[in-house]
Formats: sequence, C-alpha cells, structure tokens
Amino acid sequence: MNKHIDLLVHNIGQLCTIPAHDNGPQRGHYLGDLGLLDYAAIAIHDGVIVDIGDNAELRSTYVAANMIDAHGQLVTPGLVDPHTHVIWAGERSDEFEQRIGGATYQEIMAAGGGINHTVRTTRAADLTTLVEQSKARLNAMLAHGSTTVECKTGYGLNTPTEITMLNAIVLLDTEHPVDLVPTFLGAHAIPPEYTADADGYVDLVIDDMLPAVAEWRSEHWPDTLFCDVFCEDGAFDLDQTWRILDAAQNCGMQLKVHADEFEPLGGTKLAAEMGAVSVDHVVVTPDEDIEALAESDTIAVSLPPTPFGLAHTRYTPAQRFLDAGVALAIATDCNPGTGWNENMQFVMALATRYLRLTPAQALAAATVNAAYAVGRGDRVGSLETGKQGDLVIWNAVRYPLLSYRFGTNLAQTVIKRGKVVFNMRWRGMLETQI
Ligand code: NIG
Ligand code: FE
Repeated sequence: MNKHIDLLVHNIGQLCTIPAHDNGPQRGHYLGDLGLLDYAAIAIHDGVIVDIGDNAELRSTYVAANMIDAHGQLVTPGLVDPHTHVIWAGERSDEFEQRIGGATYQEIMAAGGGINHTVRTTRAADLTTLVEQSKARLNAMLAHGSTTVECKTGYGLNTPTEITMLNAIVLLDTEHPVDLVPTFLGAHAIPPEYTADADGYVDLVIDDMLPAVAEWRSEHWPDTLFCDVFCEDGAFDLDQTWRILDAAQNCGMQLKVHADEFEPLGGTKLAAEMGAVSVDHVVVTPDEDIEALAESDTIAVSLPPTPFGLAHTRYTPAQRFLDAGVALAIATDCNPGTGWNENMQFVMALATRYLRLTPAQALAAATVNAAYAVGRGDRVGSLETGKQGDLVIWNAVRYPLLSYRFGTNLAQTVIKRGKVVFNMRWRGMLETQI
C-alpha cells in the first residue's frame, strides 16, 4: 500500500548519508565514512527523515505531497558550521589593510583594536541593527549549504550587551531557517574598562554575567547552552579559563574552549579534563594535549579559514589528531577580524589542501562530526531515519567536487526540515523568501 508523506527527493545520483558511529562522531581515521548510495531517494514527513533507499523502491512505496527531482545530482546532509562569531555589528577592513601592510593580529589587539574594535560597534548597535547585519551573513551561510550554525556572543563584554547578543541569537533562530546553537563567550577579550584588571573582569564574568545568563536561559532557551573561553596570550590564561568554565559548568552549561590558536597554554588538555564538548583552533597543540584529547570525548574543531585569513602558514596538524584517534570537525570561525567567511565549501577546500584531509574526510568533518561538536549529532549532520530532513542538492555529481572546486557556490537547493529554503534559481534569492 502507498504511504503518504510530505516530500520525496528522488533521482539522487550520489547520496552521502554520512552515518554516526555508535551514536557518536567518526573518530580518528574512521573519519570519512560517507555511507554512499547510488540512485537513491529520501522520504521526509513532518520535517523528519522517514526512509532512505533505492530510488525505484521508494518511488513505488510513497505518495508524496511534494516531489523534488534531483536530476542525478549529489545530495548530502545540510552542512553544520560548529564555530562562528556571526553575530556582530560593523566591520574592520581598516585593520585588514594594516595587517596586509605588516601589523600582526596581536599587535592590533594590544593597541585596542581587534575584538575590542567590534565590541565598540556592537555595543553601539541596537538589537534590530545587530539582527539585520547578522541575518545577511546567515543568509549567505544558508545559500552555501549550512543548515545548522553555532553562534557565539563575545562582542558585548558587559552583561547587558552579552544578553542582547543572546537575544539576537534566539530571534534569528526563530525567524531564520538556519538552526542556531548559542554559545556564551563573555570571556572573548578583556574589555577596555578592565585593561589593567583582567582578574576583575574574570570576577565580573563569574559573579555577574554567568548568573544573568543562567536566568536568561531559564526564560528563553530550554536547549543546550554552551560557554566558551578564549584561552590565549593577551586574552585569558589557563587559570582564568578554568575558573570561568568551572563556574559555567556549575550553572548547567556545556563547555567549549578556544585553545592553541597562537600559543600553547594547555587549554586543550583542560578542555579534555573538564569534559568540554569541543576544543577549537588547535593549531599549536602539543602531542601531550592531543593524547589527552584522544582519551576523552572532546571533539577537536579546526578552523582553517583563520590561518588563511591571517595569511599564516601554520594549520591544525590534522594527521596527528587522526593518528591519535581524536574526532575532528571543521568550521568557518566566521568573524570580523581573522576570517570573514560564511562558506563551509571553502573550509572543505582549505581542509583538503592544508590539513591534508581527503575530500570524504572533509565532508564528514563538516557534517556528522560538526553536528556532534555542537551537541546536535542526534538530530542533524547525517541522513538517517529519525533525523531532521536537512539536506543539500548540489550542482555536482560526485562528493569530491565539493572540495576540489572553490570560489564558486555549488549549493543548488537547500532543504530544511523538509522545506526548500534556498534555491539557486530563485531571482533575488533569499530576500524574497526570508
Ligand atoms: O576565533 N580567537 C578569537 N576569536 C576570533 C576572532 C574574533 C575577532 O577577531 O573578532 C577567532 O579567531
Ligand atoms: Fe573563534
């Protein structure tokens, strides 16, 4: 008997299901299991995948209210971007000119620019401006195939503006097709009013911001809330990082850490010991910390657009992480300073060249592992029955094209919970749809 469903995506030439392994990420060299099916179809009902399999078989089993013909193209899960600072106001192209002229990122930060530059413009913006400017970037993310995006605060650095940033995230999560995963990053930089008193700022984060955020959460965000710290020279040292993360954990928050971007301060080992969900950047990570990570469930999130954006030559030593058996994910780190890039396809292009991931590994790192890095692996990142109907039909016939080509958007149709939310052929693209 024919079963009625909302949507059948059929005539899929190559389907990457990218399965979870034991309800978890693909660890170490198991990374790159794409679960390939040829000539396949996917049945979606009530926003959830109800069946996946042979094209002819599914076509005879289901009667769909809506049919989408993939015309033999590649289909993958919607991409997951597990580390972004996409909520901000303003821009820093003047600093880019300084950096291209020879100034370093840390020099600009020490002189009051960098993150604190964006803190000034974000504090000065009202909620509507913040939401509008950030929405334009989310539109670009969606148009490039990302359907779940982690979003950090961290350009407020005082209690009211940090809460405004959280409100912007919830508003966009409600209004925009992309699912947003919020992270409180009050410890992103020492704000100008605490330059001479970093510990005083840490006290403010612990005694004022975290309780305010916990209260905000009880009213506005029943799902997982992450707390992150930028553990780095010129930002927060290891002890300050521990103090903040410990207090956040006591407030019921899950943990993330920015570690080993420029200097190895021990943040990766700390993340593993504290049971953080992820540790991100991991460029200058010592072997001992990689071993600690391998013993833990903490996922390493590499951000190749950051060294690229800074014109640095050093990237995450991904092979060492994979050899040790660590689960590796990749993300844009989309931010106004080190790397303003919304496109996970470009991240895959960089990861294959500079991390030496295979195209299959890069794709799994941008989907299933990225989903686990934001605590959403049970819902997104793989095309499996019971997971959300989030997928991309690509202007490509085989998956390696996604990292082989770069600089051109290959996303053709983006489907979120069984609904088309972006189509390359729409005139005016997203403005007319969102
Ligand atoms: O992940 N490292 C800290 N934060 C960002 C940069 C943010 C900025 O420069 O505005 C990063 O690279
Ligand atoms: Fe970051």
